Amino acid sequence: MNEKYREWAEKELIKVKEKIEWVSDNNKYKLPYTTDEKGVYDNRADSEKKFRIDDGINWWTNGFWAGILWLIYRDTENPKYREYAIIQEEMLRPAFNMFYGLHHDVGFMFIPSAVADYRITDDAKARRTALHAASLLAGRFNEKGGFIRAWNDLDDCDTRGWAIVDCMFNISLLFWASRETKDPRYAHIAKAHATTVMNSFVRENGSVCHIVEFDPETGKRIKSYCGQGYAHGSSWTRGQGWGLYGFTSAYRNSGDKAYLKTAERIADYCLTRIDDSGIIPVDFDQPKEPAYEDSCGACIIAGGLIDLSEQIEDEKKKKKYLDTAFKIIKTIAEKRADYSRDCEAIVKNCSASYHNKKHHETMVYADYFYIEALYKLAGSEFVMW
Ligand code: GLY
Repeated sequence: MNEKYREWAEKELIKVKEKIEWVSDNNKYKLPYTTDEKGVYDNRADSEKKFRIDDGINWWTNGFWAGILWLIYRDTENPKYREYAIIQEEMLRPAFNMFYGLHHDVGFMFIPSAVADYRITDDAKARRTALHAASLLAGRFNEKGGFIRAWNDLDDCDTRGWAIVDCMFNISLLFWASRETKDPRYAHIAKAHATTVMNSFVRENGSVCHIVEFDPETGKRIKSYCGQGYAHGSSWTRGQGWGLYGFTSAYRNSGDKAYLKTAERIADYCLTRIDDSGIIPVDFDQPKEPAYEDSCGACIIAGGLIDLSEQIEDEKKKKKYLDTAFKIIKTIAEKRADYSRDCEAIVKNCSASYHNKKHHETMVYADYFYIEALYKLAGSEFVMW
């Protein structure tokens, strides 16, 4: 890693660790997602609250707090982080019994929790949990269409044929399961899905759409949907990040160069849309005003660019990707990171979806991807996805 970037990231990580030190004590028994007006994290495992079947302990971001704890544990070796991360995993396990509220995001839930635990501690229970999640994910595969179904039918919407670009991260769970069990079936499914996304989601100009619907009986592509972006056909930035970073991981996990080329196409598209401010909007095609941002998408795009810069050989491109990633993360650090005691989250100005009423919130996975990117810049070789 570039020495200047490494030095800078190490300094930033000192502030991160000071913050996670006390935030982790406050949230030992919570599954946190976002902070309230007092800066306190909510709790997706709060038994007093009425959650839907898919947004309580099944909520798709519930693995990220454990992921932060494992990243900090690897660095500090402070046993408290390991203890707290294992509590998170225990809190997530009952999700398997709720089944109907589970979805393809078992990857997001169990890679940074159970898989990370197993890889770091060799714990047999964590391995079993992770393989259970991988088998559920594999069970969502539609063989005719070669895609993994995203969600079950909730809200009277027929989603049997729906796949989303975000799943490019979840398939890392399948690649891991094949390496772990020596059973190639998981990886076959991961590759089939990645190839479908490559052929059916990535547009001519290198941008990606969020949701594509296939006929669940014949597998034929029906249409795409706008999803969380500005409009149909627009470029939701977090989705560009899921695609760019996801195809880079798919290449690293499979060795298939077509995925690497796809990641480069998405990266090159993003580079044409990122302006000098280094601030990332919710959608590259949104109107100038209101200037909604998504710092979370910013951190994911940056993480993907760092990873991609390490996979390719072209020196000029390597530098371009890494420099852009650094600029994005430095902008977050200087303009959007809160290291004070006023708020339990670090990264500000995240937006779940362009058309949501609320914008510029905190989101635990923004903190995760920010911290992950800082560790990458600091030269860490740990690869989560
Ligand atoms: N995976 C859903 C999102 O990025 O908001």
